[in-house]
Amino acid sequence: MALTKPQKLHAVNGISFDLAPGQCLGVVGESGSGKSTLARAIVGTVPSSHGRIMFEGHDLASMSPSARRVHRKDVQMIFQDPLAALNPRMTVGDIIAEPLITHEPKVPRAEVRRRVQALMERVGLLPNLVNRYPHEFSGGQCQRIGIARALILKPKLLICDEPVSALDVGAGAGGQPAPRIAARHGAVDDIHRA
Ligand SMILES: Nc1ncnc2c1ncn2[C@@H]1O[C@H](COP(=O)(O)OP(=O)(O)OP(=O)(O)O)[C@@H](O)[C@H]1O
Ligand SMILES: [Mg+2]
Repeated sequence: MALTKPQKLHAVNGISFDLAPGQCLGVVGESGSGKSTLARAIVGTVPSSHGRIMFEGHDLASMSPSARRVHRKDVQMIFQDPLAALNPRMTVGDIIAEPLITHEPKVPRAEVRRRVQALMERVGLLPNLVNRYPHEFSGGQCQRIGIARALILKPKLLICDEPVSALDVGAGAGGQPAPRIAARHGAVDDIHRA
């Protein structure tokens, strides 16, 4: 039984922007203002009740199933809560490889393994940890796993929802802009350039 009357919540209101290929855009706002909801709407995991989200000329709301598959491949996201975003029953190697195996099943397994290992090194994880599970890692390491997973398909659009919030103090300190810190951790160097 609900204790309070259901209320309609407007998580994101009145936001409009364009993003050109190769451009990096930051969204700032206080806690609860809707940044993560906006990110999820662009990825397509929460529907928007008003307005339009266009990606490469296609309206997200009316995409055909095949266009939606391409959108899911081209738009990747680094999640704010790294541990919650990782499947606890999968090894780190399988977590990072999953998007590649799903979207490009013809890539030989040896090549998948090679790319996983290269990405692990790139984001600062020892490749010999490939068979470990998420709970065996620190919050910062889980965030690195999420960054590697988001990069493996070389997405056209990479959405970073506070991508370095769980990384070590040295990485987050100094008031550096997030894209620069993310670049240092391999988060933005690998974006597909159209
Ligand atoms: N699954 C959900 N169910 C109900 N309300 C939600 C849900 N997810 C988010 N909200 C609400 O939507 C609003 C926006 O949340 P969102 O997580 O997008 O904020 P945010 O800007 O990312 O905040 P933060 O900076 O703390 O990460 C908040 O009022 C939040 O309580
Ligand atoms: Mg958020």
